[in-house]
Amino acid sequence: MSDLRDDVRTLFTELTGRAPDGLWSAPGRVNLIGEHTDYNEGFVLPFAIDRRTIVAAGAREDAVIRVASTFSDEVVEIALSELDSARGSAGWADYPLGVAWALGRSGADLAAVPGIDLVIDSNVPVGAGLSSSAAIECAVALALDDLWRLGMSRPDLARAGQLAENEFVGAPTGIMDQSASLLGQLDAAVFLDCRSLDAEVVPLGFAAAGLTLLVMDTGVSHSHATGGYGERRASCEAGAAALGVPSLRDLAVDDLVRAREVLDDVTFRRVRHVVTENQRVLDVVRTLRSEGASAIGSLLDASHTSMRDDFEISVPELDLAVETALENGALGARMTGGGFGGAAIALVPIDAVSRIQVAVDGAFAEHGFAAPEVYPVRPSEGAARDS
Ligand code: GLA
Repeated sequence: MSDLRDDVRTLFTELTGRAPDGLWSAPGRVNLIGEHTDYNEGFVLPFAIDRRTIVAAGAREDAVIRVASTFSDEVVEIALSELDSARGSAGWADYPLGVAWALGRSGADLAAVPGIDLVIDSNVPVGAGLSSSAAIECAVALALDDLWRLGMSRPDLARAGQLAENEFVGAPTGIMDQSASLLGQLDAAVFLDCRSLDAEVVPLGFAAAGLTLLVMDTGVSHSHATGGYGERRASCEAGAAALGVPSLRDLAVDDLVRAREVLDDVTFRRVRHVVTENQRVLDVVRTLRSEGASAIGSLLDASHTSMRDDFEISVPELDLAVETALENGALGARMTGGGFGGAAIALVPIDAVSRIQVAVDGAFAEHGFAAPEVYPVRPSEGAARDS
């Protein structure tokens, strides 16, 4: 982290000839459970991880926003008044630019605020399903909120990040990732009701229970701006409409009997995933509170099965990682995030970590899959001003 801070400070000074006004940072996230439930107004249980994006930011005298990063040579510069016509055209810089645009849509007067220089660095792995994009959005949102003196609440900043992603970048994602990044706390998960945006902190206590959470990054790349993610969302909305409810959040497991009669097989299975997944989130929260983390494994496994068979968003690499981890001592395992690639997670006893790493590496090699990256993550603090 201190290296990242030094890098952004140095680059900021090279770019602007002055020191930044401050440094802000925001983490990526792992979703413990509650997949594809957020845009159905249901429940999620993500936690912020110990991988962060850092932003050095400083106000300018003009009305230009300029974005640079330590991971690309490109410097993007645009007048705040031109942002609307630049939607979706700047590659990775769409995320920070989109946040400035979204804050304009959420009450900031872009004609009155100063321009901004932003320099970004990150150690959140890109493409792993750990929300590297939300980490950028949230760090930038916090920086602009401070420098533009907007005084927005964290849930409102999360909504602005989601708006940036939906309307500026063009990915029809939900509110989970930004909420985890902004609301996360050390050693705890964020239990979020995606309808009311009420959030509760749920202690995880992995380390105290002798457990570690392993990320198993398959290296299979995915994008939520294209294809499967949007199709799944459309199926959920079609299912809710056919059943006469505002969203799938309004269905309980008992309603699935009627759903099976009304819906075609594919839509029914999409609906069944979301309805049972919402219930599993509630069950995991209850189990964490009553028995602790070592008792949630079978609920994680059931979530994976539901995503593999009903929601059909897993890939062979994710299934192999999950199966191999379970065969080698994991208490529970599931793919995490939007699916179609990215990472799976496994909840494992600390003394099984290296066995599982070796076994997953070996299984991937045996199947001719590219080498995965398997590493522990810690539930960590959410976004903050660092200096
Ligand atoms: C992606 C999206 C989230 C959520 C998950 C699936 O991470 O950004 O909003 O829908 O997929 O749970």
